[in-house]
Amino acid sequence: MSYIYNLVYEDPEDLGTAAANYMVEVLSDAVGARGTASICLTGGSTPRFAYEAIACHHRDELTWSHVSFWFGDERCVPPDHDDSNFRMADAAMLSKLPVPLSNIHRIQGEQEPASAARSYDAELRTQFSDSSHEPSFDLLLLGVGTDGHVASLFPGASSSSAAEWAVAELKPHTEPKHPRVTLTPAILRRARRVVFLVSGIAKREVTRRVLMDDADLPASSIKGREQTLWLMDADAAPAG
Ligand code: 6PG
Repeated sequence: MSYIYNLVYEDPEDLGTAAANYMVEVLSDAVGARGTASICLTGGSTPRFAYEAIACHHRDELTWSHVSFWFGDERCVPPDHDDSNFRMADAAMLSKLPVPLSNIHRIQGEQEPASAARSYDAELRTQFSDSSHEPSFDLLLLGVGTDGHVASLFPGASSSSAAEWAVAELKPHTEPKHPRVTLTPAILRRARRVVFLVSGIAKREVTRRVLMDDADLPASSIKGREQTLWLMDADAAPAG
């Protein structure tokens, strides 16, 4: 059973602070319960505040060598490219935490998309069992596009087979228009907890539609096995 909670914050910075606090709480609980924790990061711009808050305020609160970091999607560019989701997370957080490099599972955006997807799919399978009954990530972070996309799962795009965990998306609907590698609903839906990070007036309508379970939007289909949390700022929060 997945319980959905919506929490609203004054501005993107407060949203980032709250998200960082929640991320550390969930990861700490997971390490306490199972000895390790896994988090799947999102790209885009909204999570940057949360990543920076973790690096600034929570660096010493967790044994980061017990945490594995994954990515929900990546633009097919080199890891030092301005549009790389890895680069954003690395600059804001990963490079500032004592995390072994072996714990950071980067999607190899510099590779040919289909090849990078196959490699990441295989890497995911080394961490998570093929049984759909087994959870995947302890915590999955997601942003939402104004069209309702999550990761690089776009409305109306050819749906991936249930067997695939990572696929190439060669025709992203939104900027930047680089080909992408994206995780699929098959693995995303197995996350224990999902947190949507949403800010800005441009996201108010799509947030309203997703919270109303609009089945046309990929964001509506991803819920945590244990909990789904919407952390949004006042601009993104639907009226009423
Ligand atoms: C990406 C992200 C994408 C993002 C949304 C929201 O690669 O761009 O994975 O799914 O989360 O587009 O992005 P913002 O947080 O920048 O609005």
